[in-house]
Amino acid sequence: MSDNAKLEIKGNTYELPVITGTEGETAIDITTLRAKSGVITIDNGFMNTGSCKSAITFLDGEKGILRYRGYPIEQLAESSNFVETSYLLFNGELPTKAEHDAFYSKISSFSSLPSGVKNILNQFPATAHPMGVLSATISALSGFYPEYLTAEATEEIKNKSIAQLMAQVKIIMANFYRKTIGKDPVDSNPALGYSKDFLNMMFDKEIDDEVAHALDTLLILHADHEQNCSTSTVRVVGSSHANVFASISGGVDALWGQLHGGANQAVLEMLDEIKNDGGDYKKFINKAKDKDDSFRLMGFGHRVYKNFDPRAKIIKKACDVVLEKLNVQDPLLAIARGLEEEALKDEYFVQRNLYPNVDFYSGIIYKALGIPTNMFTAMFVLGRLPGWLSQWKELREDTTGKIARPRQIYVGENERNYKKISDR
Ligand code: CMC
Repeated sequence: MSDNAKLEIKGNTYELPVITGTEGETAIDITTLRAKSGVITIDNGFMNTGSCKSAITFLDGEKGILRYRGYPIEQLAESSNFVETSYLLFNGELPTKAEHDAFYSKISSFSSLPSGVKNILNQFPATAHPMGVLSATISALSGFYPEYLTAEATEEIKNKSIAQLMAQVKIIMANFYRKTIGKDPVDSNPALGYSKDFLNMMFDKEIDDEVAHALDTLLILHADHEQNCSTSTVRVVGSSHANVFASISGGVDALWGQLHGGANQAVLEMLDEIKNDGGDYKKFINKAKDKDDSFRLMGFGHRVYKNFDPRAKIIKKACDVVLEKLNVQDPLLAIARGLEEEALKDEYFVQRNLYPNVDFYSGIIYKALGIPTNMFTAMFVLGRLPGWLSQWKELREDTTGKIARPRQIYVGENERNYKKISDR
């Protein structure tokens, strides 16, 4: 039996290679289809299109499986830390103790921002959305590190980029937050560990170990998610050989929308709205089901998870730990639980396989930590950075890589002649 797929178009048969991944996923390679037949494929929202081969993250949405470099997310969330997981994603293997420490010391070596970036940061009004601030300042970093502006992504550039961005994005976020509350920035103190240092820079107070650990776990859960909207954007920008800051800044912009990372902010706003409306979550479930109403249940549904989101399961547990530790009684938690329970037995949600996703409970944790709602999606950025950078590195190391340049089916006017404005 041939390994090729056969496609019949208008009486002609074309053979196309079939490729299989290490987990048995199968794809028809259509790269040569147009050259052979004049026909392209069309796939709205890339529902059925593989954009690359990748060895970083495996996800089986039907079974609710997520693995980084082969390691189940549950094991990493339980036993790893964010720095170690970032190293794993970027380098492909878990680090030895010496490799881990060297990686963290490289991150720690970027313990401040260039003064020009501080100036840019200070020009934003305190009301600016942190995602816009992040996108702009990450892009601005390219102006201060000209060594990154080479077409080639050297080993040195790659290794430096992950350490630098993991450190400086954290500083940008905390410094901007301090500005919004009218306080001076707090210096980074890497000796505290990655997550505790961030919380300390934000709040300038003693941070409980368990709380810092909960944040670290959240960052691990967000660290990569194969070819989602923002990661694909990072790859598309990177495919033109634009510099790494341009690629990551593009990822931040794509993540901002509420169908993607922006959902964590939208979830909390939705829960607040339900609370202020009297707490009747069934009313909002009905709104979400009404096709004449644009309202969607934020934090529900996923393009690839059609069973459950394994990250949401872990986050739900972490949420209980953090609220208990911080002695927070948040009425929004009861609303979230009620919404979840009601939706999971509602035919509309069951039929469409709509389950709580990673964003459903993460906002309640961020809120308990004292992070303002409009900063939730920036927290997602902090977690997703190592994933984006690992995908960018893989892209740049793929010697068969091509610039991303989809085609289209044109549905506009056929050729017509220009008429001068006086003749119209
Ligand atoms: N509330 C109500 N109905 C929904 C929802 C929802 N949250 N999500 C999907 N549906 C319905 C949708 O109306 C459609 O119904 P029908 O078949 O009758 O037309 C069906 O379910 C399939 O939805 P879709 O929009 O075609 O699915 P998609 O794969 O294109 O979209 C999604 C996935 C995540 C954008 C969508 O589920 C959604 O908008 N969810 C809410 C936003 C959200 O929580 N986003 C965070 C995703 S997880 C974090 C991340 O990695 O980005």
